[in-house]
Amino acid sequence: MGVHRYPRPLPSEITPREVYINRRRVLAGGAALALGAALPGLLGAAGNSGWRTRLGDASAGPFGTDQELTPRQNATTYNNFFEFGTRKTDPMQRARHMRTDPWSVSIEGEVEKGGTYALEDLLDGRSFEERIYRLRCVEAWSMVIPWIGFPLADLLKRVQPTSRAKYVAFETLADPEVMPGVERGILDWPYRDALRIDEAVHPLTILAVGMYDDPLPPQNGAPLRLVVPWKYGFKSVKSIVAMRLTEERPICLWEEHAPNEYGWYANVNPNVDHPRWDQSRERRIGELGRRETLLYNGYGEEVAHLYPGDPEDYW
Ligand code: MTE
Repeated sequence: MGVHRYPRPLPSEITPREVYINRRRVLAGGAALALGAALPGLLGAAGNSGWRTRLGDASAGPFGTDQELTPRQNATTYNNFFEFGTRKTDPMQRARHMRTDPWSVSIEGEVEKGGTYALEDLLDGRSFEERIYRLRCVEAWSMVIPWIGFPLADLLKRVQPTSRAKYVAFETLADPEVMPGVERGILDWPYRDALRIDEAVHPLTILAVGMYDDPLPPQNGAPLRLVVPWKYGFKSVKSIVAMRLTEERPICLWEEHAPNEYGWYANVNPNVDHPRWDQSRERRIGELGRRETLLYNGYGEEVAHLYPGDPEDYW
């Protein structure tokens, strides 16, 4: 096992997997979680003995990795969250003013059980899992982040999409009071992106509520964000306030802003350059030198079947 630079000392690396998985289930079940109160306890208690032992565990398959984690310090200070500004450090400095509790998510459109759900209601009774994913930004940098979350498919099952639902669109909070980038109108807010429904229910697609054993920091998209590891990071919408299931393909913010630069699918593809830069390599934050970028960010075995024909058609 490599050096993974978790912030806290590790009490034990030898807890058998069955034990911590069970413990996690028990902790996650039960009464409603008031986020901000129960979640830190939950993640703290399960995390120290549990999440970490999974690193380097080959049986975790695509849900884990043997690559070195990006230090938490980097993942929480070098961010894109343009609602708070365009410098990488703006989100870390400014997002703490975003109020994330109470929080609700409206789920609309082609669903049987639409409505506005309090976050604790959406999280009630769920078990959370750690997923260590590579995150490849369209700007050609990457990280390896241990998320804590649950499959988006589980949430969709609960709200019951109708047979007409072909896409799921996501929307971020847009509050000019606390978001200088929204106040200045640097993009056409709110931040919006979308997935095809088969991408949305793919087991790799998660909604994250935490990272590195803790609740999500605001700059990383607290209290609830999407993570889709085989697509460029801009698809992984932060601080979600709305989801809409639709029959028509939704227009996403980046394709609307610069349609020749950012595609609708945005699958990571080293053979499709951005018009202004090469996408065949990436800078892993915290490392020297560059790595080769992999098709579908290395998750091809899991997702290639979603894209018949030429992968370059799904840019
Ligand atoms: N979500 C919102 N609402 N606003 C953003 O600017 N940036 C995206 C994505 N989600 C963004 C967003 C981009 S470009 C990337 S690479 C990732 O968030 C970065 O996530 P991180 O800061 O947690 O690493």
